[in-house]
Parts: sequence; C-alpha cells; structure tokens
Amino acid sequence: MSSNQINAIPSKGKVTWIAPSNIAIVKYWGKQALQEPINPSLSLTLNNAKTTTTVEFERISNNKSAQIKLWFNGAEKPEFLPKINRFIEQLTPFFPSIKNYYFTIHTSNSFPHSAGIASSASSMSAFALCLLSISNIIKGESPYPDLKTASTLARLGSGSACRSVFGGWNLWGEHTQIAESSNAYAINLNHQIHSNFMDVKDAILIISSDEKSVGSSAGHELMTNHWFKQSRIDMAIENTSNLINALSVGDWEQFIAITEHEALTLHGLMMSSNPGYLLLKPNTLLAIEAIRRYRLETGANIAFTLDAGPNLHILYPNKESEKIEVWINSHLRPLCENQFILFDSQGNGPELINYSHNNQ
Ligand code: PMV
Repeated sequence: MSSNQINAIPSKGKVTWIAPSNIAIVKYWGKQALQEPINPSLSLTLNNAKTTTTVEFERISNNKSAQIKLWFNGAEKPEFLPKINRFIEQLTPFFPSIKNYYFTIHTSNSFPHSAGIASSASSMSAFALCLLSISNIIKGESPYPDLKTASTLARLGSGSACRSVFGGWNLWGEHTQIAESSNAYAINLNHQIHSNFMDVKDAILIISSDEKSVGSSAGHELMTNHWFKQSRIDMAIENTSNLINALSVGDWEQFIAITEHEALTLHGLMMSSNPGYLLLKPNTLLAIEAIRRYRLETGANIAFTLDAGPNLHILYPNKESEKIEVWINSHLRPLCENQFILFDSQGNGPELINYSHNNQ
C-alpha cells in the first residue's frame, strides 16, 4: 500500500442515521438458523416512533484504548454494551476492518423509554446503517449503503429491524409466490400497493408500560417445540398471500380480517406455549371490544394489532382519520396508562442525517 493510500483512509469521523420502528401485520414469531424466521412476516414502517443514532469512529492506535462506549438518551449505558459487542462481532465477516476501529455511540428514541414501545427494530436498523456507512467511508465509497445489505445486517441485531431499513410495506421471509423474498433480508413491496394503503395512520395505545414477563428472544424460542408450529407456519404463509392481495387491490375489509387474525393468533400462540404467557391486560380487551363495536356501528375502516405485549396499534386510512381520532380520544384514551397515545403514520424509512471524516 502506498503512503497516499494510507493517508486516504479516514482515521476518524462520525455518522448519524435516523431509523423508524415498524409494526408487523403478519407476525414474525419463531426463529431458525442464524436469526432467520420460521415464517414470512409483513410490516408497515412508521414515521414518528424512531431512533437517532450517531456513531463516532476512530482507528485504534497503540496509545489508545479500544473501548466502545454508549450513551442512551444522554446517559452512559454500559449495560447495553454486551448486546452491541455481540452484534459487532457478528458483523465482522461483512466488515473486516471494523476490528481496527473503536466506536462511541449516542442513541436516543423519539418516544419515552417507559412507553412500552419496542425499540429494537429502530435502534438496530439505525446502528446497522451507521456501521455500513462507516464501512463505505473507510473504503472511500458513498456513505449511502446498499439497503439489502443494511437489512441483512440489521436482522442480525434484531429480526424485525431488517424491515425498518425501507419505508412503507416490507416483507421478510421466504414466500413461494414472491421470487425475490428471502429469510436473510426484507424486501420492499411499495410498487405493488394500492393508494388506499399508502397513507395509513397508526394510533399506539399505551395500555401498560410495565416490563413484559417474557422478552422477544425467549418468546421466539417458545415456538421451537410448540404444538401448533407447523399450522402456524402454514397460516402465516396464507395470511401473507391474502394480505398482499388486500394491499394490492386496496381492500380494507380483507386487511382488517387478516390484521386482527394475526394479532390474536400471536397471543394465542403465547398463551398455548409451554410455559404459557398471558400478556394482554383487561384494558387491552376492553379496547378491542370497543373497536369492534365502533366498526360495526359506523362502518369505519379501523383495525387493531398487537406486538408481544398489551399495547394496541390501531390502523386506519388517513382520509377517515378526523372522525376516528375524535372517537379514539374520547373512548380509548381513558383506557391508556397516563392517558398516553402516540399518534403515528406510515413513514418513508431511514434518513442519513450527516456524516463527516477527517479526509474531507
Ligand atoms: O425482532 P424481535 O426479535 O424483537 O421480534 C419481534 C416480534 C414481534 O414484534 C412480535 C412480531 C414482528 O414481526 O415484529
């Protein structure tokens, strides 16, 4: 290597990405191999629930310690480092020069930590995007990474994170009807989505922010020997086909049926696993009953879904949002912890906010 080339490699710099959370309609529940899903999942990327991550990188020199440091919402969090170190270790084969650098990470969420909203999708996709941009910068390439690679790396940090590197509607997991689908990364489906589903709103009802009795890794593990495993896989494949059809023809009625079937199935699987978990709260059930009654009485296009917890996501089209949000505020807000609702909507995906390095 000539001295010019050595000088061309940045020895330090920083990158900031904002990445959004996403809500799965067809749920990923159960893993195989290296963080691959046992069934396809299909999600909507959000706009307001997001993580901002800045990663400063510096080449390790003899007189410097190579310790990674992490600040979350302004406070140093050494307890997050084992997960980050494991993630960086997994990325080393994709990004061998990573071991020549150390990182200082500043990360924050747009939503309160206590809101009970899972942040692993937004945080792991923001971090994967930062590391890929750094890898590109070190190689002298554009800081905008290839998104298929970003999705693959984000998946290793948290499965659902692979769907957060794109805006709108995304599919993760092999599906025979979709040739490009893969267990390794998500693909974007926006080109085949009807305009009825390109402006979706999501009101996130915080029913409880208490820590869940089962984390998502342990939850996925419960599917390994689940009685209903094969039926669940078959069901998810069929729900994915039907959901893609509903999204392409703009059919809200079919969308509502699949969305609620998937949400309740996820909880049914958790209740019937060994050990079984009941994560729904009385107010979750009251809200579900109220949503179904309201839909029946008014004909509104409104569907609920759930993650692996008690909080509800309520999905509806923007053009019906005025009347639906008046109803949510008057009828469902009282069921929420501290009356907290996060109003969100379909988002366009991650954004590279800035980057700099000492060769600019
Ligand atoms: O990405 P993880 O390991 O946190 O799993 C997410 C699981 C669900 O949120 C329940 C479903 C999904 O597809 O996002």
